Amino acid sequence: MYTILSKREMAQGTVVENVISAPRIAKKAQPGQFVMLRVNETGERIPLTMADSDPEKGTIKIIYQVVGKTTALLKTLEVGDAIQDVAGPLGKATHLEKLGTVVCVGGGTGVAVLHPITRGFKEAGNNVISICGSRTKDLLILEEEMAAASTECQICTDDGSCGYHGFGTDLLKKLLDDGKVDLVVGIGPVPMMRAVTNLTRKYNVRTMVSLNAIMVDGTGMCGCCRVTVGGKTRFACVDGPEFDGHEVDFDELMTRLRSYPDQEKDSMNRFDHQCRAEAALK
Ligand SMILES: Cc1cc2nc3c(=O)[nH]c(=O)nc-3n(C[C@H](O)[C@H](O)[C@H](O)COP(=O)(O)OP(=O)(O)OC[C@H]3O[C@@H](n4cnc5c(N)ncnc54)[C@H](O)[C@@H]3O)c2cc1C
Ligand code: FES
Repeated sequence: MYTILSKREMAQGTVVENVISAPRIAKKAQPGQFVMLRVNETGERIPLTMADSDPEKGTIKIIYQVVGKTTALLKTLEVGDAIQDVAGPLGKATHLEKLGTVVCVGGGTGVAVLHPITRGFKEAGNNVISICGSRTKDLLILEEEMAAASTECQICTDDGSCGYHGFGTDLLKKLLDDGKVDLVVGIGPVPMMRAVTNLTRKYNVRTMVSLNAIMVDGTGMCGCCRVTVGGKTRFACVDGPEFDGHEVDFDELMTRLRSYPDQEKDSMNRFDHQCRAEAALK
């Protein structure tokens, strides 16, 4: 069992951070890798990136957005409760190297995935400029952590309530126009990652994205997470989750992510119903 050691709610409770005791995973975890977790014995397995890890304390950190049944169920767990299974570290670690200037662009909960990668590129000796965006100020996460992990951190919101009024791609365009950028890392919602890669393609700047394909086993056996990259089929769980964004078929990824809307809705409705019934008994 994997005990929850801390719980912090962010972005008006829509995002939750947990530190979990997982000594064997913490010993091996690298930036860019993820875990597959199952909240309870009958639960489904979901992938979540390790936002941080501490091999000495034997802990890993996850930061997740509550979007459906399993993330809502996970949010009900409190400090001292345990998660049934946590398997990992899975996926390929980010290839961290000294390149020069690296721009890290994060949108929404993607900032949580981006944080250890940003810190890793800075520790590798790069000039790291991060751009963190969200729809509005209250939904921004990890501003302080990203500022500490980068050489320079720029904030933007769609409604102008904090930082630059507009999209992260506007700020990225300025940086691309102004000077030499050696690598862009874009992590966030699929439309955002696609917009970042469409922009950097024009400047011929290498761009890495992290793909959130639907996963079941996370170990390359079920084929559920297949994505097309450079015209070839890849499994996001073992060949990724990071890929060259200029090669990714984003249309296919979007279509595959929308494969089970009725089942997801049904599952969430049943969970809500069960929660209400349990509350009524108290
Ligand atoms: C490698 C990887 C790392 C991820 N890291 C994070 C993270 O750090 N923080 C975070 O908030 N989210 C992360 N995600 C997305 C997260 O796994 C989904 O939000 C979660 O599975 C939703 O489950 P649900 O039951 O709450 O929602 P549901 O209602 O079941 O689904 C909502 C949406 O989430 C996606 N989804 C559903 N099931 C899965 C699944 N088994 N695998 C992948 N996507 C699924 C689908 O697009 C679906 O439409 C990651 C995904 C991948 C592939
Ligand atoms: S999740 Fe099964 S092959 Fe990747």
